[in-house]
Amino acid sequence: MECPPILVFESLDDMALKALQWLSEKTSDQKRGTVSVALSGGNTPQALFERLVKLDKGTVDWNKLLIFWGDERCVPPEHTDSNFRSAKKSILTPLDIPEEHIFRIHGESEPEMEAERYSKILAETLPILNGVPQFDLILLGLGEDGHTASIFHGDKYLFASTQYCAVSKHPKSGQQRITLTGSVINHAAEVMFLVTGTPKARIVSEIAETPELTNYPAAKVAPITGKLTWLLDKGSASELKPKN
Ligand code: 6PG
Repeated sequence: MECPPILVFESLDDMALKALQWLSEKTSDQKRGTVSVALSGGNTPQALFERLVKLDKGTVDWNKLLIFWGDERCVPPEHTDSNFRSAKKSILTPLDIPEEHIFRIHGESEPEMEAERYSKILAETLPILNGVPQFDLILLGLGEDGHTASIFHGDKYLFASTQYCAVSKHPKSGQQRITLTGSVINHAAEVMFLVTGTPKARIVSEIAETPELTNYPAAKVAPITGKLTWLLDKGSASELKPKN
């Protein structure tokens, strides 16, 4: 199986400049009214978002972005675990993204009802491809255990699900989560894994280089468009096999 593009950056600033380049290309395309992006959660994206804000030189039309999430923890928006809260602080407020362009997952609501509500919003807001809402870009993180979004080991069935969103549970903390299903992830026009730090080097090398040999949820990420890219720093790339 052909290895997807793996981009290794010297610094987070370089990674941010690459992301800004993607965003400015998409938002300056006159044929597009909006550009839909699903943000990943966890710690990794925060530092990148802060760099994006710092390095932004006005080439991105931020008013064209529709902001969604790949997953959310079932906590209120002011809770320290809230993915919305950290994105609001690191990028939404600093860039003054219009309220009506922010599609927050209501982590405070009853999880099953929220998964249904968010699925409806995706179906109403995004173009539909093969019966599935299609994002322009989905950003994904990667856990050291091989999970992505909030699709953990026991949830791999979500890659064959006809649902758009589902409720899952963190295997260690028991925390309930609302996550996009694998079907929506694999129908995105583009998917980018954003992974930093040496502790993730082994899992990155396994999944990026030989996904078919592993049984990790993240190894099932294979967008039907074929557009999957890995954005890595030197730490997370440190166990990749040298290219011939
Ligand atoms: C979440 C995520 C999850 C995250 C990975 C990596 O809400 O936790 O979306 O999939 O991306 O767990 O998390 P870190 O970036 O914190 O290592």
